[in-house]
Amino acid sequence: MSDLHFGARNGLDDSELERAIGELVERVSPDLVVASGDLTHRGRPDEHEAAAAYLHALGTPLLVVPGNHDIPMLPPGRILRTFRAFERHWSRDPVHSGPGLQVVGLSSVTPWGYQRGRVRRGDLDRAVGRLEAAEPGTLRVVVLHHQLAGAPWRTRKRPLSGRSKTLRRLAAGGAELILGGHVHQTTIAERRDFEVVPGEVAACVLATAPGLGRPRPNRAHEARGVLIHRADEKELTVEAYAWSGEAWLLTGTRAFPRGAGSAGGGAITAAEQRHEHGGDDHGEDKAEHP
Ligand SMILES: [Fe+2]
Ligand SMILES: [Fe+2]
Repeated sequence: MSDLHFGARNGLDDSELERAIGELVERVSPDLVVASGDLTHRGRPDEHEAAAAYLHALGTPLLVVPGNHDIPMLPPGRILRTFRAFERHWSRDPVHSGPGLQVVGLSSVTPWGYQRGRVRRGDLDRAVGRLEAAEPGTLRVVVLHHQLAGAPWRTRKRPLSGRSKTLRRLAAGGAELILGGHVHQTTIAERRDFEVVPGEVAACVLATAPGLGRPRPNRAHEARGVLIHRADEKELTVEAYAWSGEAWLLTGTRAFPRGAGSAGGGAITAAEQRHEHGGDDHGEDKAEHP
């Protein structure tokens, strides 16, 4: 989940939606709940208190990263006490290790630009090191607030600064799933949807969660919902759910083969294509479609 915006008039403090999230968590029984930033609307201590109480009450392991709304809105607090309220509840450097799962959080928030996200080099180095240290076969997940993949619809929120380099380093470190939020729109994309990556490399999926809070209800092009991620040794799936106001509606599922060369079952090689469409088949084709 992402962008709860506790403290905004249309933040998550909506008892119906809060209850529905609790029920969904109970039903799915996730190994981990991720909240990818903008827990609060103005970064105030009381907002952080409410968001943390709500998240802890879910009763699951949690991994939380800060969003641009989780720090004070204005200087001097913004500069002098940037993460003070956030860090009363959460680490800016979180890791979750479970059986077959390594999840690393990255802070992409800087007090120097309110909307634009940036990851410090030292933080990126540490995250990559933690990914690389995981056992082979472990699902390696990275969480940061600012989106890497562009949003599907209009937004003024630009993706993370230096996103190409960040993606390259995380993918080289074995990241298979990179989670974000910030734009309040869902995007599910695999790296090869937007660039050529030579060889049979493992999938690296970028999944931007929709928002949960809706602090500016009149702003167009903001979605409400959650993503559910599942994995076994062979496949990673991402399910997108939209909140209709009354129910969670599954809007789509995308499945990705795991591991380098794992597309074997689904791959169509050039040689296979020649075989299928060459020789005798050709004549049949011609007969069917003169
Ligand atoms: Fe947000
Ligand atoms: Fe944000």
